[in-house]
Amino acid sequence: MTIRLGDIAPDFTQDSTDGKINFYDYAGDSWVILFSHPKDFTPVCTTELGYMAGLKPEFDKRGVKVLGLSVDGLGDHEKWADDIKQTQGNSLNFPLVADHDKTVAGLYDMIHPNANDTLTVRSVFVIDGNKKVRLILTYPASTGRNFDEILRVVDSLQLTDKHKVATPVNWQDGGKCIIVPALSNDDAKKLFPGGWDEQRPYLRVVDQPGA
Ligand code: BEZ
Repeated sequence: MTIRLGDIAPDFTQDSTDGKINFYDYAGDSWVILFSHPKDFTPVCTTELGYMAGLKPEFDKRGVKVLGLSVDGLGDHEKWADDIKQTQGNSLNFPLVADHDKTVAGLYDMIHPNANDTLTVRSVFVIDGNKKVRLILTYPASTGRNFDEILRVVDSLQLTDKHKVATPVNWQDGGKCIIVPALSNDDAKKLFPGGWDEQRPYLRVVDQPGA
């Protein structure tokens, strides 16, 4: 199954380190980051999970739940969690789905057979409170992901949902934004009474709303 931006994230029920988990019940009306790992007891994944556990308070602040996944069984996940705590200094503080029968991997197209026909790639899905898929990232097994970047994208998505702005290259929270092209100057005057820097009629730079 192919999932594209704007699609409704598929529901599933699967084992996890926090017990059987139903995705829609777990998500409720929160945002969710669902991310997959190729295999338990692998070095890059170990660092990623430890880092994500350290970053989780930042996702909590933004109303985003975290859900990891690997296609090994629960027994392995539990042993691996000890290794993650001992080597990375952070205990797993979110559920790790034990997708032993690859149900979720199939639903979310996490196995790319021309890369590897049994292991999942490093997929990331950012799913909003309406279960809509808002970001998809796919990394190869050899390259650890940048979870700070995922946090940055969540900040951008939540900001641009609220205000008629987009965020430019390498934007960070608090930085300059761009007024969406669809907004006329007359309407922009009402929303941005402090004005903007009009570098081109289509490139109107404004302070971040609410910052
Ligand atoms: C890792 O997480 O280190 C890894 C997993 C699969 C292949 C290569 C590296």
